[in-house]
Amino acid sequence: MNDSEQPIRVWDWPVRVFHWSLAACVFIAFFTGESERWSLWHQTLGYMAGGLLAFRLVWGFVGTRHARFASFIKGPQAILAYVKSLRQVTPEHHVGHNPVGGVAVLLLIGLTALTAFSGWLIAGGDAPGWQEELHEVAANSLMLVVAVHVLGVVLSSKQHKENLVRAMLTGFKSGPSAMGIQSSWWWLGLLMLVAMVGFVWLQFRV
Ligand code: HEM
Repeated sequence: MNDSEQPIRVWDWPVRVFHWSLAACVFIAFFTGESERWSLWHQTLGYMAGGLLAFRLVWGFVGTRHARFASFIKGPQAILAYVKSLRQVTPEHHVGHNPVGGVAVLLLIGLTALTAFSGWLIAGGDAPGWQEELHEVAANSLMLVVAVHVLGVVLSSKQHKENLVRAMLTGFKSGPSAMGIQSSWWWLGLLMLVAMVGFVWLQFRV
């Protein structure tokens, strides 16, 4: 095994807990939005998504190497260069998110924030029609971007011959050892899970 094929830790626990919790919140909230019966779940998951985003914004500045926004939010030139390289036999490879993935991350975060915020605006009832409209448009646009995101993940996995979903589950990819992160921050991931369970318990306590 040469050094560029080592199993290296890329995604820390907080990023992985954030990702799969956010995906679960968004999906379940989307399918409970129309029903009065599931309204408390819908609102709880919306607030939880908001909390997860707040955490991710901070972690994007102080987190581990590949979690930092500065490592994957790139300008138009880098994005174009990456897209052009996809036509080559060996396209540009990035250990963390690639530059196009960076745009997707911003869109997913931005639309989730807009959906959660507009949901909070209308939560008390009696909200003006445009706010309800905004919530619906934001939620539908988010689902559209999620579909493109999943397609992008599948295509990118094929293109680079690496299983990106497995990496987001386990935290590991193959790469040069110097690109790996040192700490998994497992205790912070655990703290996030405990906080989420605690929040649900507080919401449903009679
Ligand atoms: C509502 C659903 C989803 C949302 C809101 C969402 C959002 C996100 C976000 C914000 C990131 C960036 C992670 C970070 O740096 O913190 C991301 C990455 C990722 N997501 Fe999702 N996601 C969703 C569903 C899915 C599903 C169903 C899959 C499985 C196919 C998936 C697979 C991935 C993978 C593999 C990455 C890392 C991509 C890379 O290696 O650059 N996501 N997602």
